[in-house]
Amino acid sequence: MNADDQKKASGEAAALLVEPGMVVGLGTGSTAAWFVKALAARKLDIRGVPTSEATANLARELGIALTALDDVKSIDLTVDGADEVGPGLSLIKGGGAALLREKLVWEASKRCVVIADAAKQVKQLGQFRLPIEVVRFGHVHTGQRLADIAAEFDLLPPRLRMADRGLVVTDGGNVIYDMAPGLIAEPAALAGALKAVTGVVDHGLFLDLADEALIGTDQGVVKLLP
Ligand code: A5P
Repeated sequence: MNADDQKKASGEAAALLVEPGMVVGLGTGSTAAWFVKALAARKLDIRGVPTSEATANLARELGIALTALDDVKSIDLTVDGADEVGPGLSLIKGGGAALLREKLVWEASKRCVVIADAAKQVKQLGQFRLPIEVVRFGHVHTGQRLADIAAEFDLLPPRLRMADRGLVVTDGGNVIYDMAPGLIAEPAALAGALKAVTGVVDHGLFLDLADEALIGTDQGVVKLLP
């Protein structure tokens, strides 16, 4: 099984968790896209809350009814991918620059299920770059403060994320600084330090948010609990 087959298997397994009438958080990325496709194929009477414009477009194309986060009291179940799944289901997310809307949707959810291929599971977070969403105004100065924090945590300075056409700008109009790979010994302390910087909107550390993981492996989909 290649990584994409594993992503597909985990997305399809997660789609079976959805029941009619639910409000469902729809994650972002290639694994979440498999979930959205499998969910659409079930043709259930549900409403989806998308975590990005890309996911909203995909869900609309597939005929999933959408609603806005502020139009629901809470979300029954959110299913989303991750860049890394570490101990206790601590996660790095935001490789697709959707971390802010993702975290807002996750935090409004009664149950969060992370789906991933086997390579995403790690013993310690940090082999994947850590995305940090920063407001555009003064972002170079904010980036400097992030570099200071990186040094405190023995990590390399973050880099501004660029695409072929220039700066990567998020759905919320912000930019992304990626903290270069480096093992994160104290995720909670790092999360707190990043969040305390004026100009940081949020970061890709999702700690104590995932209720379970469905990991696609060569032996089938494996369920993990925190
Ligand atoms: C989007 O910003 C991310 O949080 C994705 O969920 C994450 O990057 C995983 O993406 P893939 O499923 O494409 O690997």
